[in-house]
Amino acid sequence: MLALGIDVGSLTAEAVLINQAKEVLAGCILPTGANSRRAGEGDLAAALAQSGKQRGDIGFVVATGYGRISLDFAGKQVTEITCHARGIHHLRPEVRTLIDIGGQDSKAIRVSSRGRVLDFIMNDKCAAGTGRFLEVMAGALEMELDQLAAGGSRAKASVPISSMCTVFAESEVVSLLAADHPRENIIRGIHEAIALRTAGMLRRIGLEEPLAMSGGVAKNSGVVRALEEQLGCSIFVPEEPQIVGALGAALIALDHLQVFGGEGEAGALGD
Ligand SMILES: Nc1ncnc2c1ncn2[C@@H]1O[C@H](COP(=O)(O)OP(=O)(O)OP(=O)(O)O)[C@@H](O)[C@H]1O
Ligand SMILES: [Mg+2]
Repeated sequence: MLALGIDVGSLTAEAVLINQAKEVLAGCILPTGANSRRAGEGDLAAALAQSGKQRGDIGFVVATGYGRISLDFAGKQVTEITCHARGIHHLRPEVRTLIDIGGQDSKAIRVSSRGRVLDFIMNDKCAAGTGRFLEVMAGALEMELDQLAAGGSRAKASVPISSMCTVFAESEVVSLLAADHPRENIIRGIHEAIALRTAGMLRRIGLEEPLAMSGGVAKNSGVVRALEEQLGCSIFVPEEPQIVGALGAALIALDHLQVFGGEGEAGALGD
């Protein structure tokens, strides 16, 4: 029997399918769009197609992310904080602090030596410090997200972005471009603005190393570097940081299967 984890976030929905040996048979990332339920079903179909498995092979499904309540085929819903902690613990058990920055919110999580959540803080009231901020800035600079990620690496200096609000920061970037500041210096300033907010959250929760980062923004090497410089420590970024929450959900689904079995249960998918 296989275990499936699905993380329906505000921007992207991920699925991870694992077997009893905790080997990953499929890992999929799709846009969430306007309908969380449809996104989750799309993920399920993609995971089956990628692994060549059938619905009936899946013994239990755990859903996480802000859209988790919409997935009626899941046997259990678990918060993304618990799932990210579990996922990172599986990949790197030594990690004691995790930062997850997604499209809509950012979280700092203290993780125990057993992969449990000891404490967390979350910023979900404002786009500043999240992936949304980076998307708005990429729009102002007329760049793709991956160009923005790499764009600050040659900067000779950084132009600080002083506005705390995403909407004002966007106008500020437009003015800085008009004033002929080098683009790479502006990009460096954008990465440092995210790093500054994140470092503030880490100070509040108490940073214990090793530190890791998950979520889509961990793919932005400029943000990771700026944060490493501000904190003076290195950050472990998994090979695919965006699926850490779905991986944690899959591992929790596997726990459930190992304790209760999957036959004929809610959360077990029929053919
Ligand atoms: N290739 C990439 N390069 C740089 N940044 C990226 C890349 N792919 C995604 N991102 C960033 O990741 C963000 C989305 O992250 P993620 O998929 O973890 O969000 P989410 O889980 O849907 O949101 P939330 O957890 O807040 O509900 C985007 O806003 C973008 O800033
Ligand atoms: Mg997320």
